[in-house]
Amino acid sequence: MLQEYQLDGKVALVTGAGRGIGAACAEALAQAGAAVMITDIDLEACQALVTRLREQGCHADCMQQDVVDEATWEEVVSQTIDRLGGFDVLVNNAGILTGALVETDTLEQVRRINSVNIDSIFLGMKYAARAMKPDGPAGRGGSIINMSSVAGLFGTLAHSAYGSTKGAVRSYSKHAAAEFGSLGYAIRVNSVHPGLIETPMGDHLLETWIDLGIVPDEAAARETIHSMTSVGRLGTPREVALAVVFLASDASSYVTGSELVVDGGMSGR
Ligand SMILES: NC(=O)c1ccc[n+]([C@@H]2O[C@H](COP(=O)([O-])OP(=O)(O)OC[C@H]3O[C@@H](n4cnc5c(N)ncnc54)[C@H](O)[C@@H]3O)[C@@H](O)[C@H]2O)c1
Repeated sequence: MLQEYQLDGKVALVTGAGRGIGAACAEALAQAGAAVMITDIDLEACQALVTRLREQGCHADCMQQDVVDEATWEEVVSQTIDRLGGFDVLVNNAGILTGALVETDTLEQVRRINSVNIDSIFLGMKYAARAMKPDGPAGRGGSIINMSSVAGLFGTLAHSAYGSTKGAVRSYSKHAAAEFGSLGYAIRVNSVHPGLIETPMGDHLLETWIDLGIVPDEAAARETIHSMTSVGRLGTPREVALAVVFLASDASSYVTGSELVVDGGMSGR
């Protein structure tokens, strides 16, 4: 592998890494050489992944974390530095999806998705910046990767609250990139925008379309997605994870404030 793509000596923290895209990111980062702290509300899933990665000879540890809890962020960042010897990469991946029409959505549900999908980005960047900046306890600069979505780039049916949170993730990333750069922190910030990916959340989106009568069944839902892409299929978590490895590595040293779209061509049509 090209040296710039290797993550040997780097320490990464991935949230929502118990399954899906987060688990794939943790695995790919570890396989590229990083020591990885895996967090999720589902501790058992994290522990299972740590076992699997250690069997592959990778360096991984885990903690339970609810990304909306500020006190836990402080603890997770401090434990990451103590246990793994630094903090260079944050993948702010944890998120939830709710599908609803604007006219029938509830304020409670909208506030919940705002909290999990946006507050977590703020909290993650806050504690990562404090740790990664030159006079912070990790002190080596770093790369923050915020998981957005194509739903943050264009409008979709029945996912306006979700899409709005992902638009906020995109914008937050650009502002933080400018701020950290201006302050001389050597911390890059980018957003990643997956299209529809084969995970439990991806399945949930297809089910929402069926429940709302937009498509008759799963086969029709999948066919609709296929026809919306240029590649003609849904994406895999690994395909998103490999983009994240690029942004985590020194291969992307001149990339900050950008949005990396991984959507099989969905937004380019
Ligand atoms: N799957 C897709 O098609 C798709 C597309 C675009 C963007 N995304 C984004 O990618 C990210 C991961 O999606 P996924 O498909 O892997 O989802 P998923 O639902 O399959 O997995 C999400 C993980 O996050 C964890 N989680 C949820 N709430 C949490 C909280 N409060 N604190 C900590 N962990 C929490 C869950 O336990 C789960 O392990 C999300 O931000 C999602 O919005 C997904």
